[in-house]
Amino acid sequence: MSKHTPVQSVQYRGDHLLLLDQHELPHKMDFIRIETTEQLWNAIHALQVRGAPAIGIAAAFGLSLWANQQKEESDLRTFTHQLKIQRNYLSSARPTAVNLCWALDRVMQSIQYAETVQDAIQLIEIEALTIQREDEATCQQIGEYALSLFQPGDHILTICNPGAIATARYGTALAPFYLAQERGVPLSVYACETRPLLQGSRLTTWELQQAGVDVTLITDNMAAHTIRTKKISAIIVGCDRIAANGDTANKIGTFGLALQAKALGIPFYVASPLSTIDLDTPSGESIPIEERHPEEVTHLAGRRIAPEGIKVYNPAFDVTPHEYISAIITEKGIIFGSYRENLAIIKNQKNLL
Ligand code: MRU
Repeated sequence: MSKHTPVQSVQYRGDHLLLLDQHELPHKMDFIRIETTEQLWNAIHALQVRGAPAIGIAAAFGLSLWANQQKEESDLRTFTHQLKIQRNYLSSARPTAVNLCWALDRVMQSIQYAETVQDAIQLIEIEALTIQREDEATCQQIGEYALSLFQPGDHILTICNPGAIATARYGTALAPFYLAQERGVPLSVYACETRPLLQGSRLTTWELQQAGVDVTLITDNMAAHTIRTKKISAIIVGCDRIAANGDTANKIGTFGLALQAKALGIPFYVASPLSTIDLDTPSGESIPIEERHPEEVTHLAGRRIAPEGIKVYNPAFDVTPHEYISAIITEKGIIFGSYRENLAIIKNQKNLL
């Protein structure tokens, strides 16, 4: 089987960043050029770059772009103070995915022993590149573990886009399908379209189709029926933040899928890099849930599909309580329960490395 190389959604060029414009997919593969933190904030906020790991990677590079523009600055304290302002600004672009703050904080920590501004600028760039490189290896390892849970011929359902373009490569919940494809293991994916912004139909089907993976699109309200009629053997999803007790925030609609999995007796898996596990958030109740503009619901492809003046509730994410999660698949192994204890163990192991 041939190895498909998916397009990299975040590309760092030192003085600018190229972002695959995820608004334009699947029609066009356009890249937007980012030179300032303001442009990057807008691109993250508008979901031109999206998916928890990808926004963390982009934000880390955003600090590097900014740092590279400070070569005239000679005072390290002034530089660090201004960098912190940029970090806080970028962290406000979206609230739910913890990877955004995680990556920004990693970059901040990387300069703690810098002695000059020049040192700091170099360290920031190295750290941002490392975050991106590590994410690729992380996703591949998540894919290996996830694949061990599936049998050849399985039909698996997913939601949103937890794929290559939401990460450095491979994706989280889509990684096992890339690996299976590379190895000639037959797996079929059913992708929920993911209203209101259609990450499933626009992005997941696009990237899996390009890789030659067998993928079928359904609308979100077809999931329960499809689980029965198409013999879905498991659901696998990505995530934006896992609280210390295992409660998991992911794209709106995920909790409903977990309930359906429980009712219909199939496993519900969450694929998560350790960077998405937030031990400082005790439970799902404390996860900030982004609410987005009503127009995302009242309009489809620029056309109004609801009456003028209608009230709209538009949460972008929901929280699946940990008791509905069969396993959390990380790059360090699979956790099958006792999430509070096991998440702390696995996360701290990583910190020791
Ligand atoms: O609003 P989005 O498109 O950024 O939401 C993305 C998701 O919910 C993904 O499932 C999640 O970030 C996992 S990405 C590997």
